[in-house]
Amino acid sequence: MLLCNVFLTKLHNSLQENEKTLAKRLYLHYNKNMGAVKNCVKILYYKEFAIMEKNELIKLNEEAKKQYDELCKQGLKLDMSRGKPSPAQLDLSLDMLTHCLDGDYMSETGVDCRNYGVLDGIEEAKRLCMPMLGVAHDEIIIGGNSSLQLMYDTMARAMLLGVLGGDKPWGKNEKVKFLCPAPGYDRHFAICQSLGIEMITVPYTPDGPDMDVVEKLVSEDELIKGIWCVPMYSNPEGITCSDETVKRFANLSPKAKDFRIFWDNAYCVHHLTDTPDTLLNLLEEAKKTGKQNMVFMFASTSKISFPGGGLAFIGASAENIKFIKSQMTFQTIGYDKLNQLRHARFFKDFDGIKEHMKKHRAIIEPKFKIVLDMLDKEIAPTGFGSWHKPNGGYFISFNGLDGTAKRTVELCKQAGVVLTGAGATYPYGKDPHDNNIRIAPTYPTEAELAKAMEVFCVAVKIAATESLLK
Ligand SMILES: Cc1ncc(COP(=O)(O)O)c(C=O)c1O
Repeated sequence: MLLCNVFLTKLHNSLQENEKTLAKRLYLHYNKNMGAVKNCVKILYYKEFAIMEKNELIKLNEEAKKQYDELCKQGLKLDMSRGKPSPAQLDLSLDMLTHCLDGDYMSETGVDCRNYGVLDGIEEAKRLCMPMLGVAHDEIIIGGNSSLQLMYDTMARAMLLGVLGGDKPWGKNEKVKFLCPAPGYDRHFAICQSLGIEMITVPYTPDGPDMDVVEKLVSEDELIKGIWCVPMYSNPEGITCSDETVKRFANLSPKAKDFRIFWDNAYCVHHLTDTPDTLLNLLEEAKKTGKQNMVFMFASTSKISFPGGGLAFIGASAENIKFIKSQMTFQTIGYDKLNQLRHARFFKDFDGIKEHMKKHRAIIEPKFKIVLDMLDKEIAPTGFGSWHKPNGGYFISFNGLDGTAKRTVELCKQAGVVLTGAGATYPYGKDPHDNNIRIAPTYPTEAELAKAMEVFCVAVKIAATESLLK
């Protein structure tokens, strides 16, 4: 149904003459039965076939504008731009700051965590984080407070120094290219842009990045050195890679011998339902194909404990980890072991993390529901956009009619509601359809969110009706 909705929503702008007839037949046929199809086809029908329906659009536009003017008068100041935990979520980990060390700074193996050393992290911190990536003791480095920084550093080292098995640093090539599944995480794209790496957009499917495209591109071009992927509850689409997709990743045959998959598993324990998605272990799959050195995996506790004050870690084959450590040793003598100790004592083990994530879920699930209920109530009947209910993660990805995202975001801003910039979810900030908007429901209070969504839905209606009436 979702696919149908997305497909038809996109189709309406590019309709050929013969397809218009088909659209009308579809509309009549599905009128009673299929909500999403009906709504999308109804737009085609509005636009192409019925003057009466055009009047309906004008009416809808006028009503939405009236509502919008009222909302603008309220002087709102609401922020749905970034996926940040709310203060209530941060409070869940407060004990870590107050009681966890209590004058005892020794790790279980007798390391004084106040002092230098132990580049790859203390044992208990490794044990805590290993299950999140599904790696062994010698396949992980506990880094600093940010996985984004670890990814940037990993990319910068590859550019400057090269990766294991490469015959020269990536940066010594005439050009370096990276595959960027989109819509995706804007900061991945920003890393590429800041290092002068050319980005190639790869479309998403409901099973993850389109592997037909990925396989073809990497097999043909030696300058493609890697790919980004958020494999679970992706930012922003909430998609989890299917088993088939993971296996295909593990079996890639890139022309570049120093190719790397940047597997950013930022949302690996961030479930929002009792029937969470599951993800195959890429490193294990890659071991089966003998391609384990192609994989770099990342995660952090930013949205488990504290963003900016959590633990970030990289997982890879033991060989890769040894190589990375040999490069990293010039960068630091060791990361923050006191924070590692705090985390290990607070959560105790992976079960502790899973229990803790249930408390996060209790806070944020109602917020996701507010967004989804508003979209279902206000937008679904119009067919002016599509979205899906993610089983986890931090975002709801809204796909409006082509050419309406910028206008929607601008209208929201003028009414005091800040959203992630339109286009941010694509390389170079350029959404080819100008239709994707990332909604981040976690930070505002429920009351603020409901108000922000009211503005959002009205803005979507104005932008869509304006576009259809053009
Ligand atoms: C996919 C993804 N990776 C990484 C991060 C940032 O993680 P960290 O706080 O560990 O740098 C985010 C934050 O929004 C994210 O969405």
